[in-house]
Amino acid sequence: MPLSQDSLRKIDRELAKYPADQRQSAVIAALTIAQDHYGWLSLDAMDEVAKYLGVPAIAVQEVATFYNMFAIKPVGKFKISICTNLPCALSGAERAALYLKEKLGVDFTETTGDGQFTLIEGECMGACGDAPVLLVNNKRMCSLMSPERIDALLDELK
Ligand code: FES
Repeated sequence: MPLSQDSLRKIDRELAKYPADQRQSAVIAALTIAQDHYGWLSLDAMDEVAKYLGVPAIAVQEVATFYNMFAIKPVGKFKISICTNLPCALSGAERAALYLKEKLGVDFTETTGDGQFTLIEGECMGACGDAPVLLVNNKRMCSLMSPERIDALLDELK
């Protein structure tokens, strides 16, 4: 199933932000749109983006495999990335990560049996003062994630 017309229109809007000979500048935005459409980025999806942008496939693969906001393997409906970098680790992130693992019954990079949740170890999200912090599907940041707040989040997402 190729990218939808809506997705292609969104990519066109991103392309319009750059000079015509700089289509590679839209790679991150186009991959984000493709990931929203497919849920993750297969090699086929990366190739589709590369063809649409008219850039080498390797240029797209390099970006998709570099940034951890891009999932290059199938993930659950909700990808939860919890930051465990040092400032967060010193403020309870390790405990929060352990709580999430126990609650979901998965380790990092694993997906729950019902396909709902994938747990990822994230990098600094620039919100160290609000630790522990996590991101849902790369877009929604959740701060000060105590066990009670994690319970509430998971209940809401289910
Ligand atoms: S170290 Fe976790 S948000 Fe910065």
